[in-house]
Amino acid sequence: MDAEPIAVTDLPNESLEAIAQILAALFYYRQGISLEHHFESMKRLREVAIEVRTQIQAKGRSSVHLMNLYEEHGLDAVVYLSQVKAWLALQSQKQTYGKEPPTRCPACDMPLAQSWTCLACGLELESPYQRMQVRSSSQPAVQFLPFHTALLADPERRRLLFVNCREGHRVVWEIDAEQWSATVPLSPLYLENHHLLMVDQQENRVFEVNLWGKTIWEFKTDTSERHQLLGPRRVALHHRAQDAYLLIADTGNHRILMIDRHHRIHWQYGVKGEPGKDDGFLNSPTDVQLTSEGYVLIADRGNHRVLEINPDNNLITWESPQDLGLSLPTFAEKLPNHNLLVVDAGNYRVLELNPQGVPEEECVYFNQSLDPRFRMDDPLHYFRRENQNILLSNGRRIMEIDLIHKHALWVNNLSELRYEGHEDNGHTLDPNPDFVAWISKQDAAPQASMALNDILARTSVFQGAPVTFFESLTPYLTLQTFYPEDKIVTQGQTGDAMFILKKGKVQVLKEPETLLATLEAGDIFGEMALVLSEPRSATVKAVSNCEIYRLSKWAFDTALQPFPEVQAGIQKLAQSRAAITRLKTGKHLSSQEASEVLQALLDQQVERLQQIKAQFSHRSHPVIAFRPLWRLMYNKIEQHVIHEALLAGLNCFELHVHTYNREVMSQLQASHVVELLQAQGDLLKLHPSPEAIFKDLLDDTLALTLLTRHSPEQILDDLAGMDELAPSEIYSIVF
Ligand code: CMP
Repeated sequence: MDAEPIAVTDLPNESLEAIAQILAALFYYRQGISLEHHFESMKRLREVAIEVRTQIQAKGRSSVHLMNLYEEHGLDAVVYLSQVKAWLALQSQKQTYGKEPPTRCPACDMPLAQSWTCLACGLELESPYQRMQVRSSSQPAVQFLPFHTALLADPERRRLLFVNCREGHRVVWEIDAEQWSATVPLSPLYLENHHLLMVDQQENRVFEVNLWGKTIWEFKTDTSERHQLLGPRRVALHHRAQDAYLLIADTGNHRILMIDRHHRIHWQYGVKGEPGKDDGFLNSPTDVQLTSEGYVLIADRGNHRVLEINPDNNLITWESPQDLGLSLPTFAEKLPNHNLLVVDAGNYRVLELNPQGVPEEECVYFNQSLDPRFRMDDPLHYFRRENQNILLSNGRRIMEIDLIHKHALWVNNLSELRYEGHEDNGHTLDPNPDFVAWISKQDAAPQASMALNDILARTSVFQGAPVTFFESLTPYLTLQTFYPEDKIVTQGQTGDAMFILKKGKVQVLKEPETLLATLEAGDIFGEMALVLSEPRSATVKAVSNCEIYRLSKWAFDTALQPFPEVQAGIQKLAQSRAAITRLKTGKHLSSQEASEVLQALLDQQVERLQQIKAQFSHRSHPVIAFRPLWRLMYNKIEQHVIHEALLAGLNCFELHVHTYNREVMSQLQASHVVELLQAQGDLLKLHPSPEAIFKDLLDDTLALTLLTRHSPEQILDDLAGMDELAPSEIYSIVF
């Protein structure tokens, strides 16, 4: 073991209740029996949770065998750390803020610089003004969900998914919808009480379930003929003086209903069963929402229009102008800036209209020359994320549209979104009994571990090193095992070793609480103290079961000495990590440093390309993004920087660099372009973002904004020297 101490942090106390609830949920899936009101059974689960928590802390999971939990029914199950974390996140309340935004982004921890929008992860925090608006309008989809989480319906596989959109669209929790008679659950909304409200298009229901999927409330459609629904597509929720009201797009009946929880109908627009376009009529409305002005916004799909109705007098207060040429507008949403977002499905585009009805933004996500997977003829589900991206799904495929940069970003089959709480054994929330039995026989997680040579070859800083290097390094390595929460390296201590991660994941944390990075198999750490001769710059702790090679300082010096190019690679890695740490901990950066950081980020991305490719090769690849003619957007800070630079006599250019034949640009090409342009001036902006490049979401174009003393001709000349790049476009930017 390393000389540095091991500390095990407890899962919080709330996790005991979370574990009991998860077990109860698993029991409900198997037996259809809800233990909520069975005091003795719940008490037993809470007792079991104490032992389960201890095991999860040690091993990342725990198997449970309970006889006669309720009557003669027992429970065999496995609970994972990831499940407990997801449950805790779903139960926690989002913090609200006063007049000032917090200093750091609550989702990614980057400094916010007085802004309500995080420039790093795009998160839009709810400002006091927005909070006021939200109070009087329909509940936004993201309001009670954890940051960057989307709630999606997968009607074909009959499940509801909580998806982490920031981490590779990972499913963190799923609800099995097989248990309902419902066949097409749609438009799920996560409520403040941690229930889900949704419609069922097939069974003509509007209902609410808890996180296990148990039905809690249902609109009584048999109360009268007027209560009967036909193919409802959307339900929205708003509050008025303590009372909750639901707006239902009763699509097949060509009307909108406003009801309350006591099954009373308060308002209706459209005539039941009669499609029409005259005042008072609708044709297959698919979306509805109450705006903060108190009007009902309706996507009147069959009439190719969007309407706003004053529910007090049923007068139309706004109607989409004819000349917009809307075709099958399927979703409509009022934005906090009072613009209107319309998914114009027939034209495969998303429009943002200003209050005068004039388009301010347009994003076309499909046309005939594009990948057919972006074609979604009848989108059933729409979800707007906190970073303004839009998720659209037709029940089979799902795609993400980046509205700011105007392109479709990602598309995948819904069936491929798998519940993968535990990295190695993709399990569903309720794994089958064979799997449970098999797991409980295993002492440690059955993880595929790699041969030493494979690991070394996968370690990016060693790539390209001669075979003799690997041969000379091998005898010096000792293998150690760590468990979740074990500290492998402690910030501030003297470093006496470097580490190579063979299996598992570790987190790099700057005390007290900044997450700097998550490292995976093939990554190295602990190199900074050795090459920069400084105390440990951060704490590194295991987040799953880890196997790690340790290389002592002495061995490091001895083994690496004959290989200066490997030493240089490690030195470079250490420097770039130091730069990233400065950025993430909010140290003020000069423009020189900022561009170093960008370079460092890119270097890291190139480094990890191979790893990511290897890791995800068994999964479906995201489709390469498409963009129509587009330009970068500049926020206020960037506009200010450009303005100042122009005053100082610099030029500002936005370059769009393309690959030949609309082929996809590689991360390596992208970083070459960045390197080349950095020699010409300061890079202000990069698209796709470093994170997107990191995730391999490059298409054929890289866009960069450069502050430079050079002329556009000089820059284009330099770029022309690079192979495989088509002629680039260059725009002068003036603010
Ligand atoms: P060292 O300073 O020896 O101990 C802590 C280790 O965390 C450090 O070496 C690096 O290996 C790693 N580390 C520090 N900062 C970062 C960062 N920004 N990104 C990735 N790893 C880092």
